[in-house]
Amino acid sequence: MSISQLARSISQSPTLKLNETAAMLRDKGEPVIHLGGGEPKSKAPINAIINSAALLNSGDVKYTPADGIPALKKAIVRYTEEYYNKLVAADQIMASNGAKQALMTLLYAILNPKDEVVFPAPYWVSYGEMVKLAGGVPVPVAPSDGSFRPTMEDITEVVGSYTKAIIINSPSNPTGVLYSAGFIAEVVAYCEKKKLYLIMDDIYNRLVFDGKTAPNCYEYAKDDTASSRLVVIQGVSKMYAMTGFRIGWAIGNKNLIEAMTNIQSHQSSGPATPSQWAAVGALTGVQSSVESMRLTLENHRNVMVERLRAIPGLQVTKPDGTFYCFPDFRAYEKDSAKLAGFLLEKVRVVAVPGKEFGLDGHLRLSFCGTIKEITEGIERIQWALDPNSANELYLGERKLVRDWL
Ligand SMILES: Cc1ncc(COP(=O)(O)O)c(C=O)c1O
Repeated sequence: MSISQLARSISQSPTLKLNETAAMLRDKGEPVIHLGGGEPKSKAPINAIINSAALLNSGDVKYTPADGIPALKKAIVRYTEEYYNKLVAADQIMASNGAKQALMTLLYAILNPKDEVVFPAPYWVSYGEMVKLAGGVPVPVAPSDGSFRPTMEDITEVVGSYTKAIIINSPSNPTGVLYSAGFIAEVVAYCEKKKLYLIMDDIYNRLVFDGKTAPNCYEYAKDDTASSRLVVIQGVSKMYAMTGFRIGWAIGNKNLIEAMTNIQSHQSSGPATPSQWAAVGALTGVQSSVESMRLTLENHRNVMVERLRAIPGLQVTKPDGTFYCFPDFRAYEKDSAKLAGFLLEKVRVVAVPGKEFGLDGHLRLSFCGTIKEITEGIERIQWALDPNSANELYLGERKLVRDWL
């Protein structure tokens, strides 16, 4: 069998692979604690369930327009007006199978071979692979001051004649940090001046803590012409805990959305109809589930940060949002893949190696599970790493003895 060069250049999504490994170990009865996941535990909002169930009950489940049903687009128009204070037209919106497909289709629509896409490192695992799939070249940019937030100078230094787009994800997966309003204003102005696409991946923008809010890119945009290159990516996966429904969307200029819709119409047609109706329910129904999940996550974040900071030598940046924390474990191990493998093997804790996000020496730990999973998971990590902890640990009935130090 011969596999294409392109396919060979693409790696498996490490987070999905970890889900499989964790599920396999659990099936064997292993007491796995999964701190590697990327989905909240909450249930989908009731209005989402009612809407999709009503459609399924009718049995009349058919193809939809490639860019989404009018009811969903209308709900997105309203949502954008309410949460971004921005009035967009229905023909500036394309709904997709998750934000993932919205992003992928966008990259297909804007990239020519060798075009470069710049994004801050550490970055969400899929950006680089998606850019490569679309024939482009990923250009991650690490903050020069060793923090998780690049400056505008860090970004402009890597922008060149091949640069087509900049992706900003705030708050960020994997670090949870929020970029400042000043930075967002600068990057919007810079992209307008340089005629670059600015892709705002806002998938976590309502999951922000400590009374902060994610800066709204539209507030700083001056170019309101039909050819504005500002694109917002959103979806129901994270804020409504609806990862399995697979609904996301892109908002951009009319011509771009038309080009993206043409691509999607050949790739997958419109997203699954029951999921589109579920998204209408989530967007137009009572919003209290978002706030209650946000509060729960904030509490989980506090517990995780406090416990991690009790481990000697760990450097922990407090996340402003999302459900991820990205501690620096270099005091114990520089190779994050080795460290993640060690923790899985010895204490059955799943964590994602920082290497996958473009920053070794760190692990991404999710706080979207239960408090018990968070506290027990971190207790196990501390036991495995900290030479001052007790010699033995019980995983249920099983006694572990630390024989590797
Ligand atoms: C930064 C970021 N963007 C986009 C997505 C994709 O979300 P969706 O489930 O809508 O495809 C994810 C999911 O993990 C993400 O972390």
